[in-house]
Amino acid sequence: MSEIITIAMPKGRIFNEAVELLRKADYRLPPEFDDSRKLIIDVEEEALRFILAKPMDVPTYVEHGVADIGIAGKDVMLEEERDVYELLDLKISHCYLAVAGLPNSKMSDIAPKVATKYPNVASSYFREKGEQVEIIKLNGSIELAPLIGLADRIVDIVSTGRTLKENGLVEYEQIINISSRLIANPVSYRMNDSRINELVKRLSNVVDLVDVKG
Ligand code: PRP
Repeated sequence: MSEIITIAMPKGRIFNEAVELLRKADYRLPPEFDDSRKLIIDVEEEALRFILAKPMDVPTYVEHGVADIGIAGKDVMLEEERDVYELLDLKISHCYLAVAGLPNSKMSDIAPKVATKYPNVASSYFREKGEQVEIIKLNGSIELAPLIGLADRIVDIVSTGRTLKENGLVEYEQIINISSRLIANPVSYRMNDSRINELVKRLSNVVDLVDVKG
């Protein structure tokens, strides 16, 4: 029996697409993947263990080596800057990071504020533009911030654009396109290179088949 490989999966919106991709690559994942609250799922016949983490935490589990590989959005990779290898663009969960705010609104001249779940990405973006802003870190429902006067702008993910639209906000600038990536712990990768490379190969064969939105 080969060594068990642990994969950190992001709970939430990426999860179903990632499971679909793995199944297309012929990994036999049990029905628990479709409807379960389990945080650890062992798939013995594939010698795989899956751990289900918050998306922002996936690179942390992989960097610390408790997961050998993981699936993480490029947004999370940019924000977290963890010491992990990026092996493959899975081309799922396409979206982009954008600056948004109330329509026809100017950034305040004095101490403009930007609310975001991505403080590192947002501060380097405004620093590179030479704009001094105060970053306010939020953990979700970022679109609330300009609506109730907490911030002049937000930096957040736009996927369908519905959240902005339904809250009467507009996009000012697009920052970067995002998709999900397969990442690996550098030491695990060296120790399990043949198994991990097999996974990369099987996934890369099906990546473009699933890339319907790409
Ligand atoms: C994300 C993001 C936006 C929304 C964008 O939030 O932060 O709020 O999705 O998607 P849309 O363009 O399709 O409307 P998420 O639903 O992950 O929850 P959160 O507010 O807790 O971050």
